[in-house]
Amino acid sequence: TLMDLSLNVNGKEHRLSLDPRTTLLDALREHLHLTGTKKGCDHGQCGACTVHVDGRRVNSCLKLAVMAEGTKVTTIEGLGDPDRLHPMQRAFVERDGYQCGYCTSGQIMSAVAMMKEPWGPGDADIREAMSGNICRCGAYQNILAAIRQVRH
Ligand code: FES
Repeated sequence: TLMDLSLNVNGKEHRLSLDPRTTLLDALREHLHLTGTKKGCDHGQCGACTVHVDGRRVNSCLKLAVMAEGTKVTTIEGLGDPDRLHPMQRAFVERDGYQCGYCTSGQIMSAVAMMKEPWGPGDADIREAMSGNICRCGAYQNILAAIRQVRH
């Protein structure tokens, strides 16, 4: 049986009718067609699916859509202004913080949320804070450079 719920995503309310087992990730991608959020492992291990729920970073593959009712969800599509990149997006472009790009939206969502968390300022702190976001291309040096650019 389907369940009716409403999700606030990027400032808009959406009414959905979903199987209650639907993850937030699948609701975003398959039902709201917000495909900037990526599915890598679907098991909480890669970070490609990172979104913000009430400003905190969350692996959307580990959260049921129904659990996000009553919260504010932000995806990569809602991060910048419509006509201007978020400073973290710009830094990733300027520092070449990607190769294939598949992990990039998750990296950026994670990095933006990390700025509001109590991490120290050093490179080791950034690496530790970003350790839940895997990049199969190994673009870590440039990802670090991009985050450092916004951080300092
Ligand atoms: Fe969610 Fe990998 S797809 S952590």
